[in-house]
Amino acid sequence: MIPKSVRIVEVGPRDGLQNEAKLVPIAAKIHLIESLVEAGLSVVETGAFVSPKWVPQMADSGDVIAKIRRHPGIRYPVLVPNMQGFKAAVAAGPIDEIAIFGAASETFSQRNINCSIDESFERFAEVAKAAIAKNIRLRGYISCVLGCPYEGYISPSQVAEVAVRFFDLGCAEISLGDTIGVGTPLKAIAMVEAVAKLVPVSHLAAHFHDTWGQALANLYAVLNLGISVIDSSVSGLGGCPYAPGAAGNVATEDVVYMLQGMNIETGVDLAKVAAAGREICQVLGRTPVSRTAQALKSRVEN
Ligand code: HMG
Ligand code: MG
Repeated sequence: MIPKSVRIVEVGPRDGLQNEAKLVPIAAKIHLIESLVEAGLSVVETGAFVSPKWVPQMADSGDVIAKIRRHPGIRYPVLVPNMQGFKAAVAAGPIDEIAIFGAASETFSQRNINCSIDESFERFAEVAKAAIAKNIRLRGYISCVLGCPYEGYISPSQVAEVAVRFFDLGCAEISLGDTIGVGTPLKAIAMVEAVAKLVPVSHLAAHFHDTWGQALANLYAVLNLGISVIDSSVSGLGGCPYAPGAAGNVATEDVVYMLQGMNIETGVDLAKVAAAGREICQVLGRTPVSRTAQALKSRVEN
């Protein structure tokens, strides 16, 4: 079942930056997005049309998407929680893909998007209809697929139920988010198996945070089930403001290195993505958490 090629969805400019307290200058965001595309990433999440009071770092997403230099064949998705966000996104620039985002946990849904799971799907239905009418690709995120910071255990069947709802709305892809990175490989397998009984695995993506250092192991496990779309964040930046303790996403550099070693094609240039990571880490004043990026750097220096 292991795929021959994997599409990496780079979420650094959105998931990576949304948790950073220090506001990143717009020029640095645009440079990051363009460098990631230059490194071979074909899908780069560029922002979120959410309340600037809730997530101040994403307040300039409209300007970002208006100003980036676009390349043919590259997708630049943005997060959209409701019709207000959808209208703002479409007004700001060409939109090729939007991601609606819900949760498998009721409490997380309330904390993150201020409504119940049922209410969120009322909002999503309207957004999905509007997106499909405009030929905009639709992605659905499910948070807390392997555990919730408020409710703890989340069963695979809870995740599968939400996945089907996204699929029925017309989502081309459903991204399974281990928001707080608590999953371990056998749990990741049980969750994906439950979802894949109802939604074809070709429509699923893995979005694993690395809080407990399990993300690569979990990815390896679900690659064996045929998952061929992986979300990752350059330099392992990231976290969710409404998920206490959530550390970064799995680092793009680490994912690329692992896949290269498995002879799985990604189209990504490891040295270039690591350079993009070093640059944004300089802006943020931090060291890249990616072990691959650190190993590459010490190899160059020695
Ligand atoms: P709300 O407060 O329930 O909305 O927010 P409301 O309809 O009651 O409106 C209240 C105010 O928000 C109003 O402004 C609206 O104009 C404004 P005010 O009159 O008070 O000045 N508002 C908006 N402003 C801009 N864009 C919008 C928008 N909608 C309303 N689209 C809302 C509901 C969802 C907007 C809010 O709860 C919110 O922004 N939450 C933040 C959610 C977020 O961005 N979370 C992080 C991303 S998700 C994530 O990281 C997980 C993921 O990575 C997967 C994983 O790892 O699990 C995807
Ligand atoms: Mg995330």
